[in-house]
Amino acid sequence: MPSRLTRREFLKYTGLGLLGTALPRWLTTTASAERARAGVFVPDVEINLTAAPAEVSILPGQPTQVWSFRAELVKGPAETIQPLTGTYLGPILRLQKGQKVRVNFTNQIPEETIVHWHGLHVPELADGHPRFVIQQGEQYVYEFEVMDRAGTYWYHPHPHGRTGPQAYRGLAGLIYISDADEAQRNLPSGDRELPLVLQDRQFDAQNQLVYATSMQGFLGDTILVNGQPDASFTVPAGPHRLRVLNGSNSRIYKLAWSDGTPLTVIATDGGLLDTPVQRNYVVLSPGERVELLVDFGVWGAGKTVTLRSLSFSGAGNSTAALPNGAEFTVATFNVVEDSVPTPTPTPTPTPTPTPTPAQATYVPLIFGPGGSTQPTAIGATRVTPTRTFYLYVSAGRWTINGRLFEMTAVAQDEIVELGSTEVWEFVNAAPGGGGRPGGMAGGLPHPMHIHGLQFRVISREAPTDATQRANWETVKDGYVDEGWKDTVLVMPGERVQVEVTFKDYTGLYLYHCHNLEHEDMGMMRNYKVVAPAP
Ligand code: C2O
Ligand code: CU
Ligand code: CU
Repeated sequence: MPSRLTRREFLKYTGLGLLGTALPRWLTTTASAERARAGVFVPDVEINLTAAPAEVSILPGQPTQVWSFRAELVKGPAETIQPLTGTYLGPILRLQKGQKVRVNFTNQIPEETIVHWHGLHVPELADGHPRFVIQQGEQYVYEFEVMDRAGTYWYHPHPHGRTGPQAYRGLAGLIYISDADEAQRNLPSGDRELPLVLQDRQFDAQNQLVYATSMQGFLGDTILVNGQPDASFTVPAGPHRLRVLNGSNSRIYKLAWSDGTPLTVIATDGGLLDTPVQRNYVVLSPGERVELLVDFGVWGAGKTVTLRSLSFSGAGNSTAALPNGAEFTVATFNVVEDSVPTPTPTPTPTPTPTPTPAQATYVPLIFGPGGSTQPTAIGATRVTPTRTFYLYVSAGRWTINGRLFEMTAVAQDEIVELGSTEVWEFVNAAPGGGGRPGGMAGGLPHPMHIHGLQFRVISREAPTDATQRANWETVKDGYVDEGWKDTVLVMPGERVQVEVTFKDYTGLYLYHCHNLEHEDMGMMRNYKVVAPAP
C-alpha cells in the first residue's frame, strides 16, 4: 500500500497549508481509524478502490490495453461489490440508503486522477472535484453517508482536462442504491436485473483504443454494452429490470424496441419513479440513466427482440464513421422458456423447496408509496429563472456564459445560499440572439449536469429557429422529465429550466456539460453553496 498521502494541491487550494506542515487528519488512513475509534465516522461499508492498467479481450485476437477500476471489500455486506467479468468496467457497487461509506481510493494509473460519484449527494470533500486529484501511487479517502433514493448511479474519474480520455480507457462503474421504498416494489432481481452500460469505442488494427478530442466530442464506430461489442442476452420470457447508463463520452442514444413496443421507464437519474411512464423511444444523453421494466413474455420464447438506437438530427454534421444520430442495434435479446430454475447442485442436497422465481411473485405496476419525495407535475410554462446559463462557443471553445473552467474560481453569480431553492435556466444559444446558434453550424446538444444534487425539470421551451425546431422534434418525445434528474439534455436552440434545492452541504461543487470533450475543454464551472448570512 502506498504511503505517500501528501495532498499538495489540496493544501494549495484550500489554504489548509496555513495550518503548518501537519496533514489534515482525515487525509490519512490512520487518522480515519482514530476517528472511527472516537466515534466520528464509523463506516458500515469500507471499500478499497484502485484505478490501474489492465488488459481485456474485447475483439477477436489481441487483448485491449485499458484502465480499470477494481475493488475489494474491507467491511460491509458481501454483496456490496458485484464484479463484472470480461470487461474493463469497474464492479457494481451496491449501496443501501443510510449506510456510511468509506472508500480508500488508490491511483495506479500513470497520470493524476480523482473519482466522482455521479448523482450522489455527498459532502464537498467526497465529491471528487478536480482540485483533489492525486498522483500515481497516492491515496484519497472518501467518507459519506448514502442519502440518495434507490436507483442507478455511477462513478468515473474527474481530473480537469482528462475526464474524457480516462473514462474512455475504461474507468467507469455502476452504483446501485437500494432503500425501503424499493424493497416494497418487488422488482425483478438476481439474473432478472441487467446492467446496460452504453459506450462507443474505436479500435486500431491491433485492437487498441483510439481516441481524439474535438469540438464535436468523441464518437466511436463500435457500440459496446457492458464493455463488449454485439451485445446479446439470453433472457427468460418474464419481467426484467434493465439498468441503462449512457456512459459514452459524446454519443446520444434514442432507444426503442425493434418492433415498436413502447418502453416502460421505472426510474430516471435520481431513482425510481412513483408511477412508471411509457415512451415510444427514450433519449439518453451522456451521464443520464433510465431503468426499464420489460416483460420478455410479451414476445415469448423463441423470439428475438433488439434494442435499437433510432436516427435523429441536430447533433452536428459529424464526419464520424458512426455519426451521432445514426441508427444502430444496441443489444439483442433472445427469449427462452421461463421455466422454474433448476436448483444448483450442492454437495449436500437440501430438502428445502426451490424458491419461487422472481417472475411468479412479481406484480406489475405496483409501485412505491409515492407522495412525499417524488416530483409529480412537470410544468410546461417558463417561470422567471433565478439564473440563466447560455451555452455557446466563445473564442473557439464551448463555454457556459462565455466562461471556461477555472480550478477554484467562482463568479458572483455562481454563489448560492444553503437551503435555497432556485430555478436554473440552460439556454443552448448565445445570449441576446433569440435562439441564435451557439457557435458551430446549428450548435450542438449539451447534456447539462449539476454535481451533488438531484433537480426536477420544470419547463422546456422549443427552439424558435425552424431548422433547430425540426431537429428537436426528432428527440423531444424521448425526454423523461418525470422524476429526479442530475443531467438534462439541452438541444440546440432549446431552453430548459430546472428547479434545485441546495440542501445539507456547503462548499464548492461543479456544474458542466457531460459531453466529456466539452467538459475537458472547459465547459464546466464551479458553483459555491454558502451558509446564509445571519
Ligand atoms: Cu458524471 Cu462531473 O460528472
Ligand atoms: Cu456528477
Ligand atoms: Cu456540451
